[in-house]
Amino acid sequence: MMSTEKAREVLATFGQEHLLQFFDELDAAGKKRLLEQISSIDYEQIDGLINSLVLSDSHLDIPANPAPAPVLPARPTDQAIAEKYQQARLRGREVLSAGKVAAVVVAGGAGTRLGISGPKGCVQVTPIKKKSLFQVFAEQILAASRKYQATIPWYIMTSPQNDAETRLFFRKHNFFGLNEKDIFFFAQGQMPVVDKNTGKILLADKDSIAFSPNGHGGCISAMRDNGVLNDMAKRGIEYISYFQVDNPIIKCIDPLFIGLAVQEDADIATKVIPKRYPAEKLGNICLVDGKVMIIEYSDLPEDLARKVKDDGKLLFAFGSIATHIFRRNFLERITDGGKCQLPFHRALKKVPYINEKGEKVIPTEPNAVKFEMFIFDAMPLADKVVVFETERSEEFSPLKEASGENSMDTCIRDQIRRSARWLEQVGIAVPRDARGEPAAIIEISPLLANEPEDLAGKVPTDLKIKPGDEVYLE
Ligand code: UTP
Repeated sequence: MMSTEKAREVLATFGQEHLLQFFDELDAAGKKRLLEQISSIDYEQIDGLINSLVLSDSHLDIPANPAPAPVLPARPTDQAIAEKYQQARLRGREVLSAGKVAAVVVAGGAGTRLGISGPKGCVQVTPIKKKSLFQVFAEQILAASRKYQATIPWYIMTSPQNDAETRLFFRKHNFFGLNEKDIFFFAQGQMPVVDKNTGKILLADKDSIAFSPNGHGGCISAMRDNGVLNDMAKRGIEYISYFQVDNPIIKCIDPLFIGLAVQEDADIATKVIPKRYPAEKLGNICLVDGKVMIIEYSDLPEDLARKVKDDGKLLFAFGSIATHIFRRNFLERITDGGKCQLPFHRALKKVPYINEKGEKVIPTEPNAVKFEMFIFDAMPLADKVVVFETERSEEFSPLKEASGENSMDTCIRDQIRRSARWLEQVGIAVPRDARGEPAAIIEISPLLANEPEDLAGKVPTDLKIKPGDEVYLE
C-alpha cells in the first residue's frame, strides 16, 4: 500500500489528486481503505484509456472492410448438413459422457439497466415457480450430468461487488442439488469509473473509489489468475460451455453445439441469430482478414449495418447471443505467461458519485465511462471459429431492461411460448388466444426437459390444458 505522500505524488502526476480531497476528514479505517484502493490502480493504463476512450473522439478503430462470416444454418438445408449435424451431436454426447465438458457463466455484471442492486442471477424469472436464473441453469446442468452420466463442473464468475452475495445465495439454496465440490466461484477484476467529460476518477464515497467490473472479457484472465483453468485441466476438461447470466432460455449444455466445435477442431464455436432489424443491439458477426470477429452494434457504422445484398437481405444479418464453446487449450494458450490483454471499450453509464462539495449525486443521465473488455475480442486470436445459427424463440430472451423489450415481461412470455411449442411437438394440445398466444401459463422444469425430445414419454398423453390453467411439469 502506498504512503499518503506517495499517493499524493502519483495522483498529481496523473491529474487525479481530487481523490484525496476529503482524506483529512476520514477516520483511520477510511484513510486505510482509500489508500488501499488508490494503490490498487494501474495509473499508466487508466491514463491511456482516459486519453483514448474518454477525452478523444476516436473511440475505436473499426477494421477496414468487414465482410459477413460464414454461418452454419440452424436447420440442415441438405442431406450433407443433416449428416454432419447428426455426427456432431454424437461427438458432443461423447465428450459430455467422458466428463470433458465444463460450464462457465459470467455473472459479474452490475445489471444497471434492470435497476437491481444484487446479483442478476438471483432474480426470479420463471412464470410459475419463480425460480431464479441461477436455479434454472443449475437444474439444466444437473439434468445434463444425469443424462450423460458425468460430472459437469460449473464455474461462476462474480465481481468483487457481488461475490459474497452470490456465494451466500447458492449456499442458502443448497447449491440447487448440485455437488458443492463441482461448483467454483471466482471474481473478475475491476476498473475505476471516470467522469465522461473530464476523465476524473469518481469517488463513490469520501473514502472509496467508484469501481466497476472489467467486462465479461475479464473472464479469461480471471480464469487463469483464480486457478480455474488449472482446476479444469486437473479434471480433464477439454471444452467449456460459456453463457451469460441473463438469458433464462439459454441452453447451458447443447451437445450439437459442443460437437460442432469438436468436429471442426475449432478453438471457439459461437451461436448467432438473424437480427430483427439492422441496428438491433447484438454484436455483428463479421469476417476481417479471414478472421471471424464480432463488432458491437454500437461500433458498426450505420451504413454497414443497413447495407443489403442483391437479394435484399442484410449483409450483416446475424447477431451474437453471447454463447460460446471454448477449447480449454485455446484459453491456456492465450493466457500463457501472463494476462490475456483484450482491448478495453467504453460503456456510458449512470454512476452515483460524490461531487467536489462532498455531496452524493444520483445521476438521471449517463455521466460516467466504465472500461470493459468483451469476451468476443478473443475470437481473432483463435485459429478457427465455427459460427452456428440458432433460433431466437428457442434460445434467446435476455433480461436486460426494467420494461419493454428484453424485460421480465418478454422473458416470461418467451418461456411460456417455448414450453407451449414443446408440448405441441409431443402431441399435447395447448389452448391459444385470438392472437395465437398460449392461453395457459406453462412451465417445464429443466430437470424434466431441456429440449422437446426429452419430453417424449414423460408427459401424460391425456394431459388436458384449459384456458387460464397454470401447468408446471417436473
Ligand atoms: P451486460 O453487458 O448486459 O451488462 O452483461 P450487465 O452488467 O448485466 O447490465 P447493465 O449493462 O449494467 O445493465 C452481459 C453479461 O456479461 C456479464 C453479465 O453478468 C451478463 O451475464 N458481465 C458483464 C460480467 O460478468 N462482467 C462484467 O463486467 C460485465
